[in-house]
Amino acid sequence: MILSHDVLIVGSGAAGLYAAYWASSKADVAVMSKLFPTRSHTGAAQGGIGAALGNEEEDHPLWHWYDTVKGGDYLGDMDAQKVLTYDAPQTIYELEHLGVPFSRTPEGKIAQRPFGGHTRNFGERPVRRACYAAARTGHAILHTLYEQCVKQEVTFYSEFQVLDLVLTEDGSKAIGVVAIDLLTGEIHTVHAKVVVFATGGAGKNYAITSNCQANTGDALGIFLRRGLPIEDMEFVQFHPTGLAGLGILVTEGARGEGGYLTNCNGERFMERYAPTVKDLAPRDMISQCMYKEVLEGRGINRTSRICAEDYLYLNLQHISKEELKKKLEEIVDFATTYLGIKPWESPVPVMPTCHYYMGGIPTDVDGRVRKDEDAAIVEGLYAAGEVACVSVHGANRLGTNSLLDLVVYGRRVGLHVAKNVDAIKLAKLPDNADKPVKDLIARLKASTGTERHGELRRELSEVMMTHVAVIRTEEGMSTALAKVRELKTRYANVGIQDKGTVFNTDLLEAIECGFMIDYSLVLIEGALVRNESRGAHERQKAGTDGALVKLKRDDENWLKHTFAWMKPDGAIELKYRRPYIITEHPEDGWSPEMMEKMKPKERKY
Ligand code: FUM
Repeated sequence: MILSHDVLIVGSGAAGLYAAYWASSKADVAVMSKLFPTRSHTGAAQGGIGAALGNEEEDHPLWHWYDTVKGGDYLGDMDAQKVLTYDAPQTIYELEHLGVPFSRTPEGKIAQRPFGGHTRNFGERPVRRACYAAARTGHAILHTLYEQCVKQEVTFYSEFQVLDLVLTEDGSKAIGVVAIDLLTGEIHTVHAKVVVFATGGAGKNYAITSNCQANTGDALGIFLRRGLPIEDMEFVQFHPTGLAGLGILVTEGARGEGGYLTNCNGERFMERYAPTVKDLAPRDMISQCMYKEVLEGRGINRTSRICAEDYLYLNLQHISKEELKKKLEEIVDFATTYLGIKPWESPVPVMPTCHYYMGGIPTDVDGRVRKDEDAAIVEGLYAAGEVACVSVHGANRLGTNSLLDLVVYGRRVGLHVAKNVDAIKLAKLPDNADKPVKDLIARLKASTGTERHGELRRELSEVMMTHVAVIRTEEGMSTALAKVRELKTRYANVGIQDKGTVFNTDLLEAIECGFMIDYSLVLIEGALVRNESRGAHERQKAGTDGALVKLKRDDENWLKHTFAWMKPDGAIELKYRRPYIITEHPEDGWSPEMMEKMKPKERKY
């Protein structure tokens, strides 16, 4: 069937819904998601959303901007980071007025707590910048935006999985998408003037992850197959506090409320690595320090029933049960349910968990998709939220800047679309736009192949976790590359058992597995050639005594974004783009002191 809308938004998390909310003020908008909208992964975001409101103490967007630039290890585009941090306060107040039930100060203002890497006065000490709704901030935002979209009469296609993007023959313009209705197996082509991808994260290619089942990076796979680039995929964030062995997120808000990490000696080891901000250092740094502690033998209890690997402790016992339940109820539930631990009595075993992709679909500051490392864009095609790379997070995202990215850039996309949609002409839909998807499904159903997607996926996520996670070496990544190439070859021999049409998850998981293999290849190839450490990419090399040492950041050769294309034969092509460095585009009235502050330099906390 052919469906038609002015604007089709793929993905129903906060970025997609905020884009839909604003775009629907001017156009006929539909949102398509493989989930029911309020099950989107935004709902899992716990601890807060950053904005320099200054409700609990002095704060300024300029300080937030500086922290975001430094937190990203200077790879972020500073113009986009400025938009993120300066648009933040007005966006939070708009959300408040739309109905988000933020937690409150005793005077009734939006309450704020400290989070990693957010500081007052250019790094002096942690600042209270994260606005929150207990430990359900994402859930509160998601439900509010969904209700607002329903009120605006946005059309929802829930449990429709998008499997292809339709472009004009020369690739210069988006025309629509092809999707499968999970309930019936029917294939639909959606014809639209504007297509927005807001499909979220892709962390399911790692064995230990905080990501939900749906985060299989389908859009990244689709873009690669359509000849479009993806950017900075080598930068993958590991959140320091996943429940050990499980990866379930324990919010950084726990450390914002005074929680701290210890090793097997009971030592607060972050005091050694980040004396000023300690357990509120940025995530890349804390995760790397945690690995170092464990690898140097200061982890806890490899033999315990909790986890087969060593881990560390998150201590919250000094906070009362009542306070924990009030401010961090979700993590109390998680620790009790999954580990049988009462966090007001015993420390919580934690280790880093794959959490967030800094890279994704390259866009400009209005969310328009770039088709190359220069300025060219694809007309009528946008991306926002985690699937996009604006790039506001550079090589490492600060906690709370993800929800902020979703709402600031989702909103900007919606406003940009509302302003421009009338001028965009609906391009002619090619005959048989759905043929590639129908062929793929027919091939998988007819295949007598003996490979099973579940097994390929297990092997993929294990090799990624072992060799391409927090610490990376040339040898490890080469092993991973060879393995993932082998998986790509074996994928050609995948067979499925369910040949039916109704909720055929066997079929869809097989397709998702193909996407995951493709973007994992891009990730590894980008990481392998990046011969430096930057943000979440910690590269180690054997020193003269044979011991592994961390490579330094190398701005001369590697202060650049990676753009990657996949050729039809599976080969990866890499090109590079210099980030927008504000000191190369001086702003009126800036003092030499300000220029000095924003210049790339070694990060210390
Ligand atoms: O720790 C957390 O609550 C996660 C927040 C984030 O990823 O921004």
